[in-house]
Amino acid sequence: MIWLGIETSCDDTSVAVVKNGREILSNLISSQTDIHKIYGGVVPEIASRKHLENLNPVIEQALIKAKINWKDVEGVCVSNGPGLIGSLLVGVSAAKTISALLDIPLVGVNHLSAHIYANFLHYGEIELPAIALLISGGHTSLVKMSDHGAFELLGETRDDAAGECFDKAARIMGLPYPGGPEIDRLSKTGDKSKIKFPKAFWNDNSYEFSFSGLKTAVMQYYRKNPDECINDICASLQEAVADILVRKTINAAKNYKINQIMIAGGVACNSAVREKLTEECSKNKFQLLLPPPVLCTDNAAMVATCAHYDYERGIRDTLSLDASPIMSWDDIR
Ligand code: KG4
Ligand code: ZN
Repeated sequence: MIWLGIETSCDDTSVAVVKNGREILSNLISSQTDIHKIYGGVVPEIASRKHLENLNPVIEQALIKAKINWKDVEGVCVSNGPGLIGSLLVGVSAAKTISALLDIPLVGVNHLSAHIYANFLHYGEIELPAIALLISGGHTSLVKMSDHGAFELLGETRDDAAGECFDKAARIMGLPYPGGPEIDRLSKTGDKSKIKFPKAFWNDNSYEFSFSGLKTAVMQYYRKNPDECINDICASLQEAVADILVRKTINAAKNYKINQIMIAGGVACNSAVREKLTEECSKNKFQLLLPPPVLCTDNAAMVATCAHYDYERGIRDTLSLDASPIMSWDDIR
């Protein structure tokens, strides 16, 4: 089955053509980063307007790249939440229009679940249950996936998401948006043991996270030590974030006696997170699924894979499908 996937939940306009949830025929991402950079973060009103401008050309290009025509498209799917409501509405309206015009099935997918499905897109069938760590600009969740569509939230952040912590800390230090990739880059030449930043919920056995205190600690340190090498601050911050994320994930796998670990979301591109998780998984003999960075950040191919699996379980939407800014793990069908 050939799916046209649409992703407009934040500031990336992405359209993909994916066959049977596995074979990417095209996966185009039109980034708005250069526009939002000027403001130091995503401006929702601008994001939705840009999606309106970008979406039709990106759809056309995705079909051309996939070497298919409209008549070859057999299903259309879209992230319908969570995300920025104006941005989501652009994608949802387009998907509904395509479904009506071509008379093909429509599936709205939960963006959180879509991130996890980047793993199935890249690796194919995965032995379940698995522990999944979703780390993005808006979410930090540790979940147990026991079957397709069956997610149990083990713990999540009480305040800022991991990506948000990187982005806000970067902004404090005058680094460009988005801060995560920039902090990753500068950390490569920094001393990660220079500053001991606080690690929330380090010693308890919970799967809760908190990153706002860490962001504040970076701010206070940066103000008190204006001449400190930025690379050292970045590396020390990255070390603290990676330590927390990896420790909680490994603890969950051990406590639930689950051998498979998946990661997803933009922060899963982070080199320290990838290295530490690889090291810890090999030490504990866990199987680690690590999708390539392009499938970790927002993209429509993961949406198409998620929809493919949802559709196989009988999930279909009608033209009354709506966008929803707040959707949680409980909203996955
Ligand atoms: O998954 P994503 O593309 O969008 C959301 O659903 O939020 O994630 C974006 C987040 C941003 O906070 C960005 O700074 C972060 O992922 N990010 C990174 C890296 N690449 C992207 N954070 C740390 N290291 C990276 N290499
Ligand atoms: Zn995302």
